[in-house]
Amino acid sequence: MRLYFLILIHPCMHKVLVTGGKGQLGQSLEKLVGFYPQWQFFFPDKAIVDITQPQDLENFITQHAITAIINTAAYTQVDQAEKDPEQAFAVNENGVANLIFAAEKYNLKLISFSTDYVFGSQKKGTYSESDIITPFGVYAQSKAKAEALLLNAKKPMVIVRTAWVFSLYGKNFVKTIRKLGLQKEELQVVNDQWGSPTYAKDLAVVSLKILEKYPKQTEIFHMVNTGTTNWFEFAREITILSKIQTQLLPVPTTAYPTLAIRPQKAILQTEKIQSYLGINIRSWQDALAECIHQMNKNE
Ligand SMILES: NC(=O)c1ccc[n+]([C@@H]2O[C@H](COP(=O)([O-])OP(=O)(O)OC[C@H]3O[C@@H](n4cnc5c(N)ncnc54)[C@H](OP(=O)(O)O)[C@@H]3O)[C@@H](O)[C@H]2O)c1
Repeated sequence: MRLYFLILIHPCMHKVLVTGGKGQLGQSLEKLVGFYPQWQFFFPDKAIVDITQPQDLENFITQHAITAIINTAAYTQVDQAEKDPEQAFAVNENGVANLIFAAEKYNLKLISFSTDYVFGSQKKGTYSESDIITPFGVYAQSKAKAEALLLNAKKPMVIVRTAWVFSLYGKNFVKTIRKLGLQKEELQVVNDQWGSPTYAKDLAVVSLKILEKYPKQTEIFHMVNTGTTNWFEFAREITILSKIQTQLLPVPTTAYPTLAIRPQKAILQTEKIQSYLGINIRSWQDALAECIHQMNKNE
């Protein structure tokens, strides 16, 4: 009887709602649940839990006695957001407001994700968690609004900023280059935008470790794979590892205009998360090699 009581109140017994469960990060988290048998996870898609609908959240949280939320749901179409700001803000800002409201009401832990794009200024350097943000464009501004809400919440919240996410799932640069590389003899790729590619699996591992060691006050963490590259060099590594013969041609951003302006160089420093969790984050090249190995195996 005493043991039964202990299990019930054990602080690590989580019932985790992963919103946006069918996205890149959501599916990567789902692959890891076996490592956390003491926790129960739920991965509802948007049809079940739409974060813009407070009633969906309320129903799900109360029905399943949720204790923590990992919010991977987001409007992530950066260019489309310029044409549809209402929807981008509805999901990325108001959706997060709904999550905060629920987390405060039910005393839940909440981890939500943001982006390197909040550093839109042309400063060419690396950014720490405490640097002032300068979001350009609708997507970046909607994520910045969410950050502000999380920072002002009444309970401890966690913001994880990440960048250039790739995985086996959904739409991402690695999958696009592999597909186009097989279809076209040459591909033009911009070589003057710099960043740190991030394997969604590594981001998922870190997210679960943060939940395990949830901070007592609101924190921002940066999580990207280590090392820096540009899209052209990234594409080159993808084609080499995938043994794809297409010829890659470096071009400047001006040759490939997009609706949303991207930061030229917004490199996220990761010392804080590495020291907080006592981990070493692997390089983007090592992470990419594993991802492509897995893709080849699945084909
Ligand atoms: N991908 C990147 O390169 C990148 C870079 C920096 C930061 N991030 C951030 O990292 C987080 C995870 O990104 P990701 O790559 O996993 O994104 P993703 O693959 O686009 O997944 C997002 C998921 O959220 C769902 N969703 C959209 N609106 C929703 C709503 N109202 N309610 C519930 N679910 C909703 C989407 O469903 P539908 O597809 O059906 O709309 C999708 O399944 C996001 O916060 C993103 O902003 C990503």
